[in-house]
Amino acid sequence: MKCPIIERKRQSDRSSSRSTLRAESGHEENTIEIAVLASGSGTNLQALIDTPDIRAHLSVVISDEPEAGALIRARSAGIQTTVVRWADYPDRDRFSLAVADAAEDSGAEGVVLAGFMRILSPSFIDRFPNRILNIHPSLLPAFSGVHAVGSALEHGVGVTGVTVHFVDEKVDHGPIVAQRPVLVEPGDTEQSLHARIQVEEHELYPLVVAAFVNGNLEVNGRMVDWR
Ligand code: GRF
Repeated sequence: MKCPIIERKRQSDRSSSRSTLRAESGHEENTIEIAVLASGSGTNLQALIDTPDIRAHLSVVISDEPEAGALIRARSAGIQTTVVRWADYPDRDRFSLAVADAAEDSGAEGVVLAGFMRILSPSFIDRFPNRILNIHPSLLPAFSGVHAVGSALEHGVGVTGVTVHFVDEKVDHGPIVAQRPVLVEPGDTEQSLHARIQVEEHELYPLVVAAFVNGNLEVNGRMVDWR
């Protein structure tokens, strides 16, 4: 039987300090437009494109890699694309601000990272507070960083998985929205394990992003409420 999503649900009667994701943007149904940032093949982007409720709110796909497969997928779906090349900027902050400008110019109020291989500066995160999602191929906080799948195998774990989280100023660290476990099997290679993790990613990310787009996720400190 398929493992259920491990959701973090909390009572919604917390203090006044909560920061809400419901847009105060004038959108009638509290929905927001989102920019997807991707550097690679874009299979997670494709899963979002294939979800009609999400596709309707994808305002732009931004990549640092002009040849990224994600750009081809976006163009095939008729979605605006923008390339922001790392080499065109003197430092991380200027690069990050250019990405933020491209997202905002498209009308996006939220950002979804789908295999984006550049670390964004704190000034980017300040532009979209509690409005940046990331998907990571491990059960965070275990195995953060770019070699998550290989590191899990090398460590000898029996279970790894997928985490979707909000992005804060530390890498792979922000409030966790949802997780799914994936069992490590005898003889697994990094490729075979990552392939099974991606099957779960392609189911889980659309569920979370749909909630995000519809204003149904609320961040309270490290906790995330689903409404
Ligand atoms: C995914 O495994 C995701 O967890 C990680 O980057 C990978 C992107 O894959 N952040 P794709 O380009 O969506 O196929």
